[in-house]
Amino acid sequence: MATFFQLFSTLLILFLSTSPSIAGKCNKEDEKALISIKSHFNNAYHFASWTNTSACCDWYGVKCSLNSDRVSDLYVIQDSLVGTLPSTIGDLPFLTSLRFHKLPNLTGSIPSSITKLHSLSLLILSWNSLSGPIPSFLSSLTSLTDLDLSFNHFSGEIPPSLSSLPILSALHLDRNNFSGSIPSSFSSFKSSPDLYLFHNNLSGDTSFLFFASSPVTTIDLNRNKLSFDLSLVSSFPVNITYLDLNHNKIFGSIPNSINELTGLTTFNVSYNRLCGEIP
Ligand SMILES: *[C@@H]1O[C@H](CO)[C@@H](O)[C@H](O)[C@H]1NC(C)=O
Ligand SMILES: *[C@@H]1O[C@H](CO)[C@@H](O)[C@H](O)[C@H]1NC(C)=O
Ligand SMILES: *[C@@H]1O[C@H](CO)[C@@H](O)[C@H](O)[C@H]1NC(C)=O
Ligand SMILES: *[C@@H]1O[C@H](CO)[C@@H](O)[C@H](O)[C@H]1NC(C)=O
Ligand SMILES: *[C@@H]1O[C@H](CO)[C@@H](O)[C@H](O)[C@H]1NC(C)=O
Ligand SMILES: *[C@@H]1O[C@H](CO)[C@@H](O)[C@H](O)[C@H]1NC(C)=O
Repeated sequence: MATFFQLFSTLLILFLSTSPSIAGKCNKEDEKALISIKSHFNNAYHFASWTNTSACCDWYGVKCSLNSDRVSDLYVIQDSLVGTLPSTIGDLPFLTSLRFHKLPNLTGSIPSSITKLHSLSLLILSWNSLSGPIPSFLSSLTSLTDLDLSFNHFSGEIPPSLSSLPILSALHLDRNNFSGSIPSSFSSFKSSPDLYLFHNNLSGDTSFLFFASSPVTTIDLNRNKLSFDLSLVSSFPVNITYLDLNHNKIFGSIPNSINELTGLTTFNVSYNRLCGEIP
């Protein structure tokens, strides 16, 4: 009987160790990083399932990539979590999606360790209380497709280096306190992300964003302090579908070239200083 149980348990161990999908997956290095994130937030309730009674790929708010024990997705959404973003976030090298969203007591800035996340595609830090400037090191996250820093207290100027992000498809910087002008490098983004820069304190002339060969399709700059002569814009991006410039200080008149935009679904220039005839 003893030998039967020995054989059985040996087989079971073999089976479990070669079938990570059944045994529950957890990479030891990733587990260490996650535990340090948990203790950074003083073992807050969100992390209640993060214990050694289950594999870390099964913990609440954690996902691992298919057929792997590496953490690919980490999220904390709508929680009363208090504190700053922990620098040990950078110790999850296979992360593709990082979402800290709707955490009114998440404060501080974005840690530089985030640049170690070479596979990061989604960085969603919206609806928190983060502050300080956007660090220019974010431009080294070359796998980013969606960067969302909207609805925080970020301030300062938008770093020109963001335009070098090669596959970015959406840039959400709306509802912050960014000031200065939109970087001129944004006229030649490597990719052509949808630009959501509304509800900020941006000023200056942004007419450099408007030219026929620009591939951009969505530009939302409403509620800023932009000031330029719209009459001097001779053409708009040919494929633009959404252009919102309401609540700015734009003057001059609406150019006739607006009529050439066949795909335009929204064009809002209300609450500006425009005059003349509507084409
Ligand atoms: C699991 O964690 C508890 C409490 O932290 C600890 O006492 C115990 O030794 C751990 N067990 C294993 C198998 O690591
Ligand atoms: C969390 O934020 C809310 C709303 O901003 C605030 O009323 C509350 O005092 C904060 N709680 C803590 C523990 O800081
Ligand atoms: C925005 O930033 C300016 C400094 O650039 C500061 O004076 C102002 O209080 C900030 N506004 C908000 C709403 O945070
Ligand atoms: C906007 O920026 C200016 C400086 O350019 C600053 O004086 C002002 O406080 C800012 N406004 C708000 C509402 O933050
Ligand atoms: C506009 O869209 C068409 C059709 O999708 C595409 O062939 C063309 O390259 C686009 N033009 C620009 C400037 O992106
Ligand atoms: C344009 O923006 C203003 C201000 O937000 C809004 O009241 C209005 O309904 C918008 N117009 C259209 C056609 O969307």
